[in-house]
Amino acid sequence: MSDVLKYVDANLGRFRAEMYDFLRIPSVSAKADHNPDMRRAAAWLADRLKEAGLEPSIHETGGHPVVLGEWRGAGKGAPTVLIYGHYDVQPPEPLEEWESPPFEPTERNGRVYARGSADDKGQLYMHVKALEAHMKTTGKLPINVVVLAEGEEEVGSVNLVPFVEKNVQRLACDYVIISDSNMYAEGMPSVLFALRGLAYFEIRVKGARSDLHSGQFGGAVANPGNALAKIIASFHDADGRVAVAGFYDDVAEWDEETRDQIRSLPFDEEEYRKELEVDAVAGEKGWSTLERLWIRPTCDVNGLLCGYTGEGAKTVLPGKAMAKVSFRLVPTQTPDKVKKLVEAHLKKVTPPGVTVELVELHGGRPWKTKVQGKLVEAASAALEEAFGAPAVLQAEGGSIPIVVDFEEKLKASALLVGFALPGCNLHAPNEWFALDAFEKGIGALALLYAKLA
Ligand code: BES
Ligand code: MN
Ligand code: MN
Repeated sequence: MSDVLKYVDANLGRFRAEMYDFLRIPSVSAKADHNPDMRRAAAWLADRLKEAGLEPSIHETGGHPVVLGEWRGAGKGAPTVLIYGHYDVQPPEPLEEWESPPFEPTERNGRVYARGSADDKGQLYMHVKALEAHMKTTGKLPINVVVLAEGEEEVGSVNLVPFVEKNVQRLACDYVIISDSNMYAEGMPSVLFALRGLAYFEIRVKGARSDLHSGQFGGAVANPGNALAKIIASFHDADGRVAVAGFYDDVAEWDEETRDQIRSLPFDEEEYRKELEVDAVAGEKGWSTLERLWIRPTCDVNGLLCGYTGEGAKTVLPGKAMAKVSFRLVPTQTPDKVKKLVEAHLKKVTPPGVTVELVELHGGRPWKTKVQGKLVEAASAALEEAFGAPAVLQAEGGSIPIVVDFEEKLKASALLVGFALPGCNLHAPNEWFALDAFEKGIGALALLYAKLA
């Protein structure tokens, strides 16, 4: 084993430089102008998988391609692991808030700043390098491997479900390993026990045939902006609970053991509050901040559009208004059921004089696992060895839509082990990834593969 770790150590500079090449490709899945970059990123990754000794292939989907890297030389007696990650990134805007350009990886204070460094190209690439380390030192891998990198995670993974269904045989595996999340804190590696799901909608409110003079018509014609504000306000009650009828029906009780586990983690609410520059934390009454983030569902406005927002004043009664609203879900809520509940809610609360339309953008089911067995034991041991500190159990409030589909369709259990750090600006300007976590994490992953054999 130590030869593998020595290889990692001796090649870290090159690994880092290669990751930077990957980060220089602006693989923004949401924008059609970046389609050539998406293909470039897929091809680049396939080439690196090949160099690492895996059999690469690129698969067309209805959207951006899926990249596979396969190696099954460990034989029938060894487990097969599917390693999943995504090579697409979120749009970098607003550009003026970046201290260095988003697609020019820049090192500052032991971190690399670039879009995709943490989410998820940097973390995906760690797996490629951990595999390479085994292959180049021993000529083989301790396990059978399928690397699956998709280009549409940030836009909802809509084409990945059919891809998985069509390739169930080829993707058959014992375990799914995903590095697309955070460590609990610097020096505190972690394994996840849950991820929230997502139901994301656009709410479109329409009033009169067009914008109108707000003096000439105001007071006599319904205002879509006012109506939308009323609708949004109706989504919560005074205790911060989601006030959509039936919303909590499928929210499972969490066991005391899980709640104790959450309580056992060090968490300084005052520090959390200060770092975010808010004067108070807020949320559902009766739950701690970590519980609100990890095991309770939410409703949040993600965007609003209505009326005149340019310079100065324009007296106008808007003809329409739009809100992007997301619900984070917990077991056993589903996006389909939540859509029906929200539709029924809108019928009740929409004021007369406007019409409202609910458009589903994307969704994903929540994921929860029993943290036990060989997979977690191997991961905990590998993380402790590489980081010199025991791994803690935590959950995350974010969503990775495909995890539940993998478990169901491939009948495998998933391990979520991520290496980004809290505060690393996922989806925001100045996203960064700690170089120390990159290095130790590659070692941890190499150890993990060996322990699974
Ligand atoms: N890697 C994130 C999810 C995540 C973030 C997990 C933080 C754990 C900690 C993923 O790329 C992501 O951003 N997911 C989206 C959902 C997707 C359907 C756009 C999310 O959570 O908003
Ligand atoms: Mn991600
Ligand atoms: Mn993301």
